[in-house]
Amino acid sequence: MSSQPKRYTVTAALPYTNGPIHIGHLAGVYVPADIYVRYLRLKKKDVAFICGSDEHGVAISIKAKKEGKTPQQVIDHYDEIIRVAFDSFGISFDNYSRTSRAVHHETAGEIFKQLDKQGQLLIKETEQLYDPEAETFLADRLVTGTCPFCQNTEAYGDQCESCGSSLSTSDLINPKSSLSGSIPEFKKTKHWFLPLDQHEEFIEEWILKGHRKDWKPNVYGQVKSWIETGLQARAVTRDLDWGIPVPLHGGAGKVLYVWFDAPIGYISSTKEWAQKKNIDWEPYWKSEDTQLVHFIGKDNIVFHCIIFPIILKNVGTYILPENVPANEFLNLEGNKISTSKNWAVWLHEYLKDFPEKEDVLRYVLTANAPETKDNDFTWKEFQTRNNSDLVAIFGNFINRVMVLTQKYYDGKVPSMGELKAADKAALTKLKEVPSIMEKKIENYHFRAYSQEVINLARLGNKYLAEHEPWKLIKTDPKRVETIMFTALQISAGLSILSEPLLPFTALRMMDMFQFKASWDDVISGQPLLAAGHLLQKPQLLFEKIEEEAIEKQLQKLKNNQS
Ligand code: MF3
Ligand code: ZN
Repeated sequence: MSSQPKRYTVTAALPYTNGPIHIGHLAGVYVPADIYVRYLRLKKKDVAFICGSDEHGVAISIKAKKEGKTPQQVIDHYDEIIRVAFDSFGISFDNYSRTSRAVHHETAGEIFKQLDKQGQLLIKETEQLYDPEAETFLADRLVTGTCPFCQNTEAYGDQCESCGSSLSTSDLINPKSSLSGSIPEFKKTKHWFLPLDQHEEFIEEWILKGHRKDWKPNVYGQVKSWIETGLQARAVTRDLDWGIPVPLHGGAGKVLYVWFDAPIGYISSTKEWAQKKNIDWEPYWKSEDTQLVHFIGKDNIVFHCIIFPIILKNVGTYILPENVPANEFLNLEGNKISTSKNWAVWLHEYLKDFPEKEDVLRYVLTANAPETKDNDFTWKEFQTRNNSDLVAIFGNFINRVMVLTQKYYDGKVPSMGELKAADKAALTKLKEVPSIMEKKIENYHFRAYSQEVINLARLGNKYLAEHEPWKLIKTDPKRVETIMFTALQISAGLSILSEPLLPFTALRMMDMFQFKASWDDVISGQPLLAAGHLLQKPQLLFEKIEEEAIEKQLQKLKNNQS
């Protein structure tokens, strides 16, 4: 898919509804995905931005057991909290579904049955870990032990959270059941397997040969090491009572493995969306001129680059992702974000402490995004980025332009007059910067894009500082009109070009400017605000964050530890 796509299907990892979401999720997945999609919309592209809650999996049953609730109660609770958080931060999904819905159970069940019918699943009787005290098979998550790679003694049967390795329960040294603490035994059980080993060549051709240049090195590297290690058949069913029942003879008491059904959630969410809009969902998943992009965190790479594509390819009619721009992890004040240790900044809490500062967090998380390596979020940097980039550069520029326009012309855009070289240079820059930003966004370099936004505001400030309209207003009012006209065009351009990053601020700017335009209108170089156009009264866009507020956050993190 290298020529111009006709439409885009953009997915963001379905969050588990076993807890609220934190800044790590936002930085790694949802803000970059949202920037990408908002940009595409400003380019007037046909986009489906798809997400939903991931509501199966043993983590949810465990949480329910612990809290004395049903899994349904747990997922209803967090689904709501997560929806509100996404909505408050302007994550502009076209559809946000739930994997507990009927449309998803049907879609995932059908795909499973189809693979089985086509002979693409194996049935094997295996020995699985069984808890003799609790009399139940143990899901990977319920077995803990020592990680063979980093010796972390609290690794889970599916993953070591310390070194990030994906594991299977048999890799663990000294396994024990976290239900009863007993030593698990092996017991026979029958499961359906996806023979990943039969598809190594496909992954090699498609990713290792085909995407060496255009996929992020962290993503490419992980896929390469999986292939080098060799793929193995993976069980895609589990002995559990929470999930999608295995829709085949002999499947009683078994459900689909959560990582089998969850990515199919993208498809069922697209179906739900299309049905509401009364359009056909299939082109978004089956048409070669659709560009499919998955935004995820690095712990999801194997599922999106190997397992799900193998499922899609086996079914036969689906397209494959054009890119999977996974991010690394965001740490917090030097330590790994951890739900169990409450070392996190929860979105719903952030909004209580910093009301109406959604864009500040979006900006800071983007400017410091873990795009190529793990990165650290610190409250100090949050403050600096706010006070210097957003207040002193961006906000200050727009405010000066607005206040002066109000003062000199009662809020009316002055006429262009005669452009001098410096004015032309500034306007040319404004016309050129969108293509620079475009390249950054289309290559998933959102940090770099965010700095282009600030640079454009910086250019505006510099332009005003050099031409000092406030000194000329008495002596050369004609000249001042041209300067203010030019500065106003830059401001209007900024409201468009910053929208993917700072959607709430951009909306307020467009409100002040009483205008709306597309990305390509900025490229056209035509004046965005015509002479005589009336602006609204200035409003402040950003405000300084004081030391006190930062101290409070640091204290809160500390208090959570005791
Ligand atoms: N719930 C998973 C996580 O939080 C992500 C699922 S992505 C999907 O890590 F593709 F499976 F939906
Ligand atoms: Zn480890």
